[in-house]
Amino acid sequence: MSGLLLTGGRGRLGTELRALLLGAVAPGRADLDVTDPASVRAALEHLRPTVVVHAAAYTDVAGAEREPDACWRVNVTGTRHVAEACATIGAVLLHVSTDYVFWGDADPERAARGGYREDDLTGPVRNRYALSKLAAEDEARGAPRHLIVRTSFRPRAWPYPNAFTDVRTSQTYVDELAPDLALVARHAERLVDAGVHVLHVVGPPTTVFELARRRAPDVVPATKAAAGVMLPDDVVLDRSLWLTWKARLEEEA
Ligand SMILES: NC(=O)c1ccc[n+]([C@@H]2O[C@H](COP(=O)([O-])OP(=O)(O)OC[C@H]3O[C@@H](n4cnc5c(N)ncnc54)[C@H](OP(=O)(O)O)[C@@H]3O)[C@@H](O)[C@H]2O)c1
Repeated sequence: MSGLLLTGGRGRLGTELRALLLGAVAPGRADLDVTDPASVRAALEHLRPTVVVHAAAYTDVAGAEREPDACWRVNVTGTRHVAEACATIGAVLLHVSTDYVFWGDADPERAARGGYREDDLTGPVRNRYALSKLAAEDEARGAPRHLIVRTSFRPRAWPYPNAFTDVRTSQTYVDELAPDLALVARHAERLVDAGVHVLHVVGPPTTVFELARRRAPDVVPATKAAAGVMLPDDVVLDRSLWLTWKARLEEEA
């Protein structure tokens, strides 16, 4: 029995997590294709992990508008296969989700813009990728012992010449986020046993432009109209539940 199994272990987040979760197994797509239920079942039944960190996904937001079926197959049907296999072997499913499951309006009537809590109503969503990730959360709940972690991150280096000034976010850089997600993964069983099934693990509130400027001082300000896909105005997540748990877990370590 190996403790942790990671799907999507060669992706942006998965690569960071593999470096932190030494001993975790991370089968590639050839050995664990989430769109193939037999492949998922065989891998989990063979490796018998106690926790499955499900980070594999179709993540091209603009691409999902062009090929929604491919996105749905990986994100929704794929998560169903992973959840079913977790249920079969009794593993905890740590499902990596996104802030995009919220509409993310900038309603001036709201006391706090954004600031979504774990139990806030999700949807409606802005795009096909977000729709698939929202549906994937329901599939993840098919595993009796599940933990849905909503997060948001960027690669280590800001990848664009410009950044949006009109999108508020709690995104952070993947290398800053990964230690927190690794901590969640190590304690996933404990969290689930304590009744935690949804957790917002993100950075502090910022704008996309301010985030970009931290690592790319010359980044050019832009507005989200340039994105070519509908994006939220303010999708900041309230992370207070995570910060409380983080302090507790670190104190106990
Ligand atoms: N990036 C963000 O801003 C962001 C924000 C919030 C949440 N998330 C979520 O975080 C997770 C990781 O995102 P990321 O940016 O690290 O993704 P990524 O870099 O695009 O990596 C995705 C991974 O999924 C794997 N994959 C795709 N289709 C698969 C299949 N059919 N079977 C098995 N593996 C498959 C890919 O394998 P190959 O290497 O073989 O292609 C790759 O390793 C995803 O659930 C994503 O929705 C991302």
